[in-house]
Amino acid sequence: MPSRTYVIGTVAACAVVGVIVWGYAGALTSPLAAIDPTDPAQVARGQAVYGQHCAECHGANLEGQPDWRVRQADGTLPAPPHDASGHTWHHDDALLFDYTKRGGQVRMPEGVTSGMPAFGEVLADADIAAVLTYIKSRWPAQVLARQESLNRK
Ligand code: HEC
Repeated sequence: MPSRTYVIGTVAACAVVGVIVWGYAGALTSPLAAIDPTDPAQVARGQAVYGQHCAECHGANLEGQPDWRVRQADGTLPAPPHDASGHTWHHDDALLFDYTKRGGQVRMPEGVTSGMPAFGEVLADADIAAVLTYIKSRWPAQVLARQESLNRK
């Protein structure tokens, strides 16, 4: 008959191993884990993606389109800036990833048209992670810290 402490110890050890394996698998599979603005290779990759796919609307310098808060005659909003003057940094990584992958339309109330295309068919998850890394690398330290605190919520 195994002692009571032995049984409790084994159960606890299994639980610890389980949590580690689960956490590791999650880190491997989630593209969000690659969003690291301190990684120069990721930033460079993201800058290239940004120049090719985002700059035409969000601006070569992340400045957005003029009067980006004013709705256009066709019902869409112009592209907002991705620098600290916009509100991209008010959202956590998961939302920014989803917005880029699935586009803006899926989040709009009925009757409102989004001007933000879905990139899920155009960009690999790793490219979406890279472009968000680049955008984040351009934020001042304080803004970056505020946004990163949302990721931990
Ligand atoms: C054809 C123009 C266009 C292109 C190209 C474009 N966007 Fe957008 N984007 C928009 C518009 C317009 C919005 C404003 C919200 C809406 O209408 O859905 C937006 C909003 C966003 C938002 C939400 C920001 C917020 O604060 O809510 C993210 C994130 C975003 N874009 C990322 C990207 C990325 C990354 C790329 C390049 C891979 C890209 N966009 C390319 C037009 C564009």
